[in-house]
Amino acid sequence: MAHPTSPPSPMVAQASGPLTGTIRVPGDKSISHRALMLGALAIGQTEITGLLEGEDVLATAAALNALGANATPAEKGRRDGRWTVDGIGIGGLVEPDDLLDLGNSGTSARLLLGMLATHPITAFVTGDASLRRRPMGRVVEPLSRIGARFVTREGDRLALAVNGAITPIPISYRLPVPSAQVKSSVLLAGLNTPGATTVVEPQPTRDHTERMLRHFGASVAIEPEDGGSRRVTVQGFPELAAAPIIVPGDPSSAAFPLVAALIVAGSDVTIEGVGINPLRAGLLECLREMGADISLLHRREEGGEPVADLRARAGALTGADIPAERAPRMIDEYPILAVAAACARGRTVMRGLAELRVKESDRLSGIAAGLDSCGVSVAVDGDTLIVDGDGGPLRGGASIATNLDHRIAMAFLVLGLACRLPVRIDDAAPIATSFPSFIGLMKGLGAVIV
Ligand code: S3P
Repeated sequence: MAHPTSPPSPMVAQASGPLTGTIRVPGDKSISHRALMLGALAIGQTEITGLLEGEDVLATAAALNALGANATPAEKGRRDGRWTVDGIGIGGLVEPDDLLDLGNSGTSARLLLGMLATHPITAFVTGDASLRRRPMGRVVEPLSRIGARFVTREGDRLALAVNGAITPIPISYRLPVPSAQVKSSVLLAGLNTPGATTVVEPQPTRDHTERMLRHFGASVAIEPEDGGSRRVTVQGFPELAAAPIIVPGDPSSAAFPLVAALIVAGSDVTIEGVGINPLRAGLLECLREMGADISLLHRREEGGEPVADLRARAGALTGADIPAERAPRMIDEYPILAVAAACARGRTVMRGLAELRVKESDRLSGIAAGLDSCGVSVAVDGDTLIVDGDGGPLRGGASIATNLDHRIAMAFLVLGLACRLPVRIDDAAPIATSFPSFIGLMKGLGAVIV
């Protein structure tokens, strides 16, 4: 199938006056995917509130519908984040009669492959030009051990065909790279596998799958091991019971208006209802170490996840040394952290960034090239990114190649708000994968984006 291509839609961000106001960002992308997937594997109807209606999550919904589930907005034609999923039970997926096209979404691809791997059906999976470049070997390898068979393009890339195992074999798998997607893929495969399926993660990654499996009634054991690793075990054939889900605001989306508020002089912005799961909160730690004025208000728990309102006020930032161990807890936040670093006084060193090379684009190169073209002193040394800021206003005045990467697009629009000269991005369309309301919300706060 030819992937739909629309003409690129460039945008320009300009020096802006203080950003002020209170906003809500859309639902968490990771949790939204999982809510639809576990809803599809449950018995009964799952009601979801606050689902992210971005392209990535809609791709998951469409794929699940092609596999026999029924995931739809609660009110036909209305996009207010309320969705229902009629589950078909573990083992209930049916063979799709066409390609599953997952667009830009790595999470959809890797997690759905886990589900497909232990259903005795054949499916053909593809995605857009960015997703077709990304490595799938990281899930193909463990899922093959469980008994699934794959035919992939060279380098284990999409498009691929998967034959799910007829008699799946439970495995114990140690993650070679810290990846919540790989962990989740294996755990989802384990749901339709007899016995215990275990994933050992040397560095803890986001635990939304584990939390939500428990929320639906599955038995998941999480055992800390020596040296900081975690052993996560799911028992096969649980009866997942439909359960209501409230999706918190996405901290990875909140990061953009949050950093914008810190770097645009005089700003004071509150973002309500943001998820602060400790395995996602690395950025807040970094920004605080850099001297950011951020308060967490009204801390509470919603749908099994910790949530707070974040208030950010502009002020001077200083450089910091960000350890590699923190990377899994903020892996999507490096583009916007690098923007904060560019506006700080002193050197910021961000270590352990190998995984950034296999995101929606090679983010390590993309961040460095973009900052350099805006007049920022930046270097890449192996997997380390080094940004030197002088705390003064940045030059800007560049056009940024976004390479189908929503987070590169948003990060450089935010940078443009604090530059003397406008910053142009070549394509704002990918922002709709994760944060469709980004431009409108930013303009509402006072950002000049045209
Ligand atoms: C995600 C895990 C991370 C992250 C991605 C969402 C998830 O990917 O970058 O945006 O929902 O599990 P990796 O597992 O590749 O680190």
